Amino acid sequence: MKVKAPGRVNIIGEHTDYNDGYVLPFAINRYVEVEIEDSEFYRFYSETLNECIELRELHKTGTWVDYIIGVIFSFENRGYKIPPISVKINSNLPIGGGLSSSAALEVATAFAISKKFGFDIPNFEMVNVAREAEMNFVGVKCGIMDQFVSIYSRKDFAIFLDTKTLDFKYIPLRLMGYEMYIINSKVKHELSFSEYNVRKEECEKILAVLGKRSFRELKRSDLNLLSGFLKKRAQHVIEENERVLSAVEQLIKGNFKKLGELLYESHESLRYLYEVSCDETDFIVEYLKAKEGILGARMIGGGFGGSVLVLAEVDRFGTIINSLIENYYEKFGIELEYYKIESSDGVSIL
Ligand code: GLA
Repeated sequence: MKVKAPGRVNIIGEHTDYNDGYVLPFAINRYVEVEIEDSEFYRFYSETLNECIELRELHKTGTWVDYIIGVIFSFENRGYKIPPISVKINSNLPIGGGLSSSAALEVATAFAISKKFGFDIPNFEMVNVAREAEMNFVGVKCGIMDQFVSIYSRKDFAIFLDTKTLDFKYIPLRLMGYEMYIINSKVKHELSFSEYNVRKEECEKILAVLGKRSFRELKRSDLNLLSGFLKKRAQHVIEENERVLSAVEQLIKGNFKKLGELLYESHESLRYLYEVSCDETDFIVEYLKAKEGILGARMIGGGFGGSVLVLAEVDRFGTIINSLIENYYEKFGIELEYYKIESSDGVSIL
């Protein structure tokens, strides 16, 4: 049984999905493929990493295999029995690139297992199976966006998702005269996992201080009741939600200039208010800001490295990227990677 699940780009709405907020992601044409076969013991083989891990019994390994084992435990927690399997993985999604390679691996594994063993589980529940692997086994208290988009996406559409109600709408991605690129900073700072959970705790603290149950009850005036970094975090979430609503409008109207401005604003907010960016992604965004033909750019995903999303006029990016690669190399000694991105359907059986 072979399945492929896509990575994602989030146009806007960062660190809002565990705060009952809005997000606007779409799946991209880069995938994790998972093939499952019967086996006498657990065997996990990554073609991409050229690494094989064999286990008689499942336990935490501190490696990429944990995303798969986490999915097996998610099924078992629901009462499903899974005999030992051999799992083969192949991927053209950069690991740690902020494109959600872990969610793609979880989703592909969950679908491959459920199809192979004939589990009858609706897509919505599959989102939870995959997400619980990350939250409960790997230990990143993530929101729902990445697993959701890897399952529900449709080519040529972004998903406008309300993470409180889980209502969602497909918004046509008609770029007409514009292109989107991903620049991978090629860094993933150590604190990315721990700081993610810290941000989540800080947001829970904000609700406790204000005596609210959900960020959706927060108004701008509530900011006056907060101070220091809690005020900054809350301001980011409130304004980022407003930006998502505006971005949906701009995408529908085809106002890419305004959409680009929202991307820059989002980055500023992630940098100074939510404090999850880093020197490398800040450098990339600052560099692009000064260039004609670039409408907007921002870090995407959890932060502390990963990728920058770029919105550019057609045929403008090519000349700019080469000088950026040189400048970035000079400053950080790292060779950037970049990809033109296209949207994609969600998970599929091969
Ligand atoms: C990671 C998480 C998502 C989301 C983003 C930040 O990708 O997995 O749930 O919180 O960070 O927006």
